[in-house]
Order: sequence, then structure tokens, then C-alpha cells
Amino acid sequence: MRHFQPIARVPGDPILSLMDAYRADRNPAKLDLGVGVYKDAQGLTPIPRAVKLAEQRLLDSETSKSYIGGHGDALFGSLLSQLVLGADNPLLANRAAATQTPGGTGALRLAGEFIAQCLPGRSIWLSDPTWPIHESIFAAAGVRVGQYPYVGTDNRLNVEAMLAALSHVPQGDVVLLHACCHNPTGFDLSPRDWKRVLEVVKARELLPLIDFAYQGFGDGLAQDAFAVRLFAAELPEVLITSSCSKNFGLYRERTGALIVCAEQAEKLQDVRSQLAFIARNLWSTPPAHGAAVVATILADCNLRAAWSNELDSMRQRIAQLRTGLVSALQTHGLAERFAHLVVQRGMFSYTGLSALQVSRLRDEFSVYMVGSGRANMAGLDAERLDQLASAIARVCND
Ligand SMILES: Cc1ncc(COP(=O)(O)O)c(C=O)c1O
Repeated sequence: MRHFQPIARVPGDPILSLMDAYRADRNPAKLDLGVGVYKDAQGLTPIPRAVKLAEQRLLDSETSKSYIGGHGDALFGSLLSQLVLGADNPLLANRAAATQTPGGTGALRLAGEFIAQCLPGRSIWLSDPTWPIHESIFAAAGVRVGQYPYVGTDNRLNVEAMLAALSHVPQGDVVLLHACCHNPTGFDLSPRDWKRVLEVVKARELLPLIDFAYQGFGDGLAQDAFAVRLFAAELPEVLITSSCSKNFGLYRERTGALIVCAEQAEKLQDVRSQLAFIARNLWSTPPAHGAAVVATILADCNLRAAWSNELDSMRQRIAQLRTGLVSALQTHGLAERFAHLVVQRGMFSYTGLSALQVSRLRDEFSVYMVGSGRANMAGLDAERLDQLASAIARVCND
């Protein structure tokens, strides 16, 4: 008997295959707008200076590599909860707490397992479109997945359709919301839209699971937390998945948390006991290094200021690239058609380019982006915006 004989091959991640094609491309003018990591003007994904300094300190001060507990580093959990919910949030007294996870992905998977095991029968509702891994994470956890409309084929945010769909979601189901910098579209809800979503969530008694993977990349650390803090203040129960991958540049250190807000301190502890139990079966205890780096930065006012300034520069660079590209497109009479690029927030943009235009950009101009037309704006090169604008004009006007 050959045990492996019936095993078929699953197709690779399309973004990773795109990266392989990019690497193999010999055109020196090639441009990578595919993979979802921040890039600086040199095309590198930098380690923030505050991270390096914190790592140096840890190298000297660390005395043990013993396990950290099931909820992870307590100082990290508390400082990250403050960053997410606001340092003066009354929930932090005893009604909100973080369980450290391997990245935002780990937090989502932990939430998925929690829903499957502790809230059986509840479906989770995802925006259409969403980060493709959302669907596979919840499906893998055994949670039924539904969709609500978000951005239509006209490449516009459709809040009315979203609200209408959510108002028909079965009472008590879970709704996943992107706190800011919606991946893949870049279209975010306004504060007024969020209040309307909140009313539907209240009316249908839905449990919000807010994915917060880009805090600081939209409009600022506090501004990006608007929806998270609004929902946490107005609802008895909220789940938040927070990632330190992008804003701390800690991608490979797998640093994140699932933050639970509960109505009573006792119930919070009940939920947390379940999370520790589930995590025990998934990864036992989380990796320590990234969380120790984040805690070191957030606990030290100088490191924290340096980090937050660097994050501001990353955000400003993306915003400048967005406006720069739209002004370069103006020369080709395309500024209006691409005006949404400056409305969108975060690294990603649904450009509105068709699959055919995306493949022409790749084949004829070595510009790599995802087939859906999603572009990572941080991958743009400020010196070559005119060149890109001409390429876009060619594929749009031919
Ligand atoms: C919307 C969204 N959520 C969660 C994540 C997970 O991030 P990580 O697991 O790298 O922390 C990502 C990463 O790309 C994302 O785009």
C-alpha cells in the first residue's frame, strides 16, 4: 500500500506564483506591485530602527528561552490592547484582554476555532471581496462562510448593499469587518458608514470580528482604530484580531493577538480559558521574540516615538505615491478614471484594471499585480510613476 498515492496536488498561492514570475523576469524596469508587504524607496521591506534597538536591548537582557504562557507575553498583551482600544479605555480594567497569537493569521484561526467549538452553528460573513485567506481559515476551522457585498464590479464601495445584506444575516452570526485599509480593495468605510453598520450589528445581535492588520497605515494609529473603539464602546461583546506584521515590520516574527471584549470580567475569563485551551492544541504557546520587541517599544517613550514617526513616514510615502500616480495619469487624461486611488487607504488598491489589462501590463511592461487588479501601492517607485502611467494608458486606451 502506498499511503500517499491518493494525494493530489493543490494549486500554489497565485501571489507566490506571481512572485516567481517577477523574479525570473530579466527586464531591469520590472515593477512588483503584487506581494502584500511595505516597501521603501529602495524597494526593500525595512526593519524599523526602533525594532533594531529593541532587539539589541533584548539580546543583552534576555535570561531565558522558557515557554511563555498560553496567552503569551502579558506586558505585550496589555500594551497592544492599549494601542488598539486606547490607553484610557475603561474596558481595559477587567473586560478586555489579549491572547498572543502567531501573527494576525494565528489570531484569525484562533477566532475561527473559538466560533466552531464554542459558538457552534454560527456562520461568519465576509466582505466580497476580502483577503482570500479569510475564507480558507474559517472553512478550515469548520465555520460556514457567507458573503456580504462590499465593492461592486463598478469598483465602488457599495455601503447600501452591504447594509441591506447584513440586515438579513441570521441573528447571532459573526460578521468579519476590516477595521481599516481594506484588503484587497483599499476602500474604507467613513465614520458615518461605521455608525450605520453598528446599528445593523446591534439590531441583528451579530458578533463582530474586527480584523485590524494595518493599524497606522490608513490615517494614523488612533484614527485607524475608530471603528474598533466605537464597536467596543457600544457593544457588549467584540472580537478583534490585531497584527504587528506590517506596522512594526515584524512579518516573519509572527506577532499578533486576539483581543476579546466581554460584558463582565467573569465571562471574559471563561472565554479566555477556552482560547488558551484551543491555542494549546494549535501551537501550544506563541513565539516570544516579536512580542517582546513590541512590548519593549511600546513601554519606552523614546522607542515608541521613533517607531510611530517611522510608521508615519511609511503612511506618508504611500499617500504621496498615490497622489503622484494620479497626477502622472493626468497627462494621459486618466486622472478622473483613477481618482479612487487617492480615496483608498493603506497599501492596497483595487485599480479597476481588468484581468486582461493586468496581464498586458505584466507581459508588455513587466508590471506585476494580482489578476483582480489589486496593486500594492507601496511597491511603486516615485522616480518611475510617469513610466507606469504611460504603460497604464497604453493598456487602457488600446
Ligand atoms: C486583511 C488581513 N488580515 C490579516 C493578515 C495577517 O497578517 P499576519 O498573519 O502576517 O500578521 C493580513 C496579511 O496580509 C491581512 O491582509
